[in-house]
Amino acid sequence: DFRIEKCKTKVYPDELPNTSVVIVFHNEAWSTLLRTVYSVINRSPHYLLSEVILVDDASERDFLKLTLENYVKNLEVPVKIIRMEERSGLIRARLRGAAASKGQVITFLDAHCECTVGWLEPLLARIKEDRKTVVCPIIDVISDDTFEYMAGSDMTYGGFNWKLNFRWYPVPQREMDRRKGDRTLPVRTPTMAGGLFSIDRNYFEEIGTYDAGMDIWGGENLEMSFRIWQCGGSLEIVTCSHVGHVFRKATPYTFPGGTGHVINKNNRRLAEVWMDEFKDFFYIISPGVVKVDYGDVSVRKTLRENLKCKPFSWYLENIYPDSQIPRRYYSLGEIRNVETNQCLDNMGRKENEKVGIFNCHGMGGNQVFSYTADKEIRTDDLCLDVSRLNGPVIMLKCHHMRGNQLWEYDAERLTLRHVNSNQCLDEPSEEDKMVPTMQDCSGSRSQQWLLRNMTLGA
Ligand SMILES: *[C@@H]1O[C@H](CO)[C@@H](O)[C@H](O)[C@H]1NC(C)=O
Ligand SMILES: *[C@@H]1O[C@H](CO)[C@@H](O)[C@H](O)[C@H]1NC(C)=O
Repeated sequence: DFRIEKCKTKVYPDELPNTSVVIVFHNEAWSTLLRTVYSVINRSPHYLLSEVILVDDASERDFLKLTLENYVKNLEVPVKIIRMEERSGLIRARLRGAAASKGQVITFLDAHCECTVGWLEPLLARIKEDRKTVVCPIIDVISDDTFEYMAGSDMTYGGFNWKLNFRWYPVPQREMDRRKGDRTLPVRTPTMAGGLFSIDRNYFEEIGTYDAGMDIWGGENLEMSFRIWQCGGSLEIVTCSHVGHVFRKATPYTFPGGTGHVINKNNRRLAEVWMDEFKDFFYIISPGVVKVDYGDVSVRKTLRENLKCKPFSWYLENIYPDSQIPRRYYSLGEIRNVETNQCLDNMGRKENEKVGIFNCHGMGGNQVFSYTADKEIRTDDLCLDVSRLNGPVIMLKCHHMRGNQLWEYDAERLTLRHVNSNQCLDEPSEEDKMVPTMQDCSGSRSQQWLLRNMTLGA
C-alpha cells in the first residue's frame, strides 16, 4: 500500500460507475501480463469491474494464444481476449478494445503494471464528480532489473519540451496553492504519460477517442492531453491512486517504418491540429521533421471546430503557464554576433554545460534560442544562466525565478545585458574560441547581437 496516510482513510461514495479495463499487449511476458491482470482482479472491488479486455496486437509468442485463452477462463472476473489481425499499434488496438467495452468508464493500462490497494475507487469517484475529468493514477516505478517496487512522487506532473517529448516536471507553486496543501486532492496536470488513465466511456467518444491516423505509438498522449484541455475537459493525477509500471530501458520491438519516423509523423499531426502558430517551436528545433509526410488531418481539424475548442495560446496561458514554450516572446531563431557573424550554439551539450558559439548554419536545431517576454534566453527547457562576474555562461534548467537567468535585450544598441551581474554577452576570448564570454558593457561590436524570428525553410 503506497498511499500517504490521509488517502488510506478517505471515504468514497458507494455508488461509483463501473469500469472496463483495457490492456493492449504485444509479445508481453507471461509473468508481467498476468501480474497486471491479477492485480486488477485482486485489488479492485468486483462490483466496479465490468470486465477486463486484453487486446493482442498480433503477438507471435505461442503461450499468448490458446494457453492464455484457457487460463483466463478460470479467473473470477470476465476476461475477454481480442486479437488484431495484423500489427496495428497501441492506438488502433486501444480503439478496438474501447469499442468492445461495456463499462461506464474505460480504464486503459499497459500490459506490465501492478495496481495497488485502493487504486480504483479514487479514479472512479473523481469521474463521478465530473464526467469530463480524465484521471491518471500516480505511476510508481517497477525496476526492469529487479522488479523492485518504488513509490512515485505526487510532486511531479506531466509536461513536454519543444521536441514534443513528454517529460515530468515539478508541480509548480500555483498548483500547490490551489490545492491548499492537501496532498490527497488531485493535481491538475498539463499532459499525461498516456499508458494508464480512466475516462468516462461516453466522454471518450464525444471528445474524439484517439487520432486513428496516428501509427503505432508516440504523440498520442500529448494529442489527447491538448484536446482534453482545449475542448473543455480536464486532466488530473489522482494522488490517492497508485499503479506500478515496469519502465523498460528501450522498447523491445521494432516499429514498421522505424521508430523515429513514426513518432515524427504522429507529432506532426498533433502539432498541425492543436498547436496553432506554436508548432514553430517543434519544427525549428527538429530540423528535417517538416519533410515527414503526416497524411490528412482534415477530420481532426473538423473535430476541433465542432467541439469549439480553444486555441493553444489559451492552453499555455491558463493550463500550462510554466511551459517550456513561452506564450509570448521577442524572438525565436538564431542569436548572431555582429562582429564575428557566429551564432550561439548549444552544440548538443546538456544541462550544466557552457553554451557554445559556432558558425551560423541557419538550419535551426542547436542554434535556436528564444528570447522570451519573461526575458530569459532559452533553448527548449534550458536557460542561459550566469552566476559569477565574468561568466561562464551555463545552460541550466529554466526556473522562471528571474535571478541569474534574467537578460535585458536593447534592440537599438543590440546588447544582451545580464541584469544581476550588469555585464554584457561578448564574443569568445583568445583562450577558448568555442564559448561566449561575459564582459563589462562597452558598446563594442563584439557585444552586439542580432535576435530574429527564423522563418521555416529559410
Ligand atoms: C455497469 O453499470 C451499468 C449502469 O449502472 C449497468 O447497467 C451494468 O450492468 C454494470 N455492469 C456490470 C458488469 O456491473
Ligand atoms: C517574433 O514573433 C513573435 C510571435 O509571433 C512576435 O510576437 C515578435 O514580435 C516577433 N519578433 C520580431 C523581432 O519580429
